[in-house]
Amino acid sequence: MIAIGSDQGGYELKMEILKHLEARGLEYKDFGSYDTASVDYPEYGKKVAHAVADGECERGILVCGTGIGISITANKVKGIRAALCTDCFMAEATRLHNDANILALGGRVVGVGLALKIVDTFLDTPFSNEERHLRRINAIED
Ligand code: RB5
Repeated sequence: MIAIGSDQGGYELKMEILKHLEARGLEYKDFGSYDTASVDYPEYGKKVAHAVADGECERGILVCGTGIGISITANKVKGIRAALCTDCFMAEATRLHNDANILALGGRVVGVGLALKIVDTFLDTPFSNEERHLRRINAIED
């Protein structure tokens, strides 16, 4: 199950991502927001982050205008490694090296075509499980 959330700045891209997940046959839970009305991104960043941290969902996707505010919020929750990605190289590297459990995107930064490729890369790349990366990830929580 993929947790997904956005504010108004990420709403339109989130809707494209939902269509894409449906086309791929992937289950998701949409934590809002549910329209383009102005809201505060921390509410949605926290909802998705807690769903992932608590084990309700395996991965999360968060979208705000830049991806910055919502990723800062998610990274305050223990156990969350939210990665703001603007290209596929970053999405692949953050899965291989950081075992990122939330992808953050900027709806006003990346186009739909690139964003969907980033989503696929994030979802389809496994963690490398290499000792040096595990050591570094564990050190984040120390
Ligand atoms: C909302 O206008 C905007 O500030 C928000 O979507 C995000 O970019 C914050 O980091």
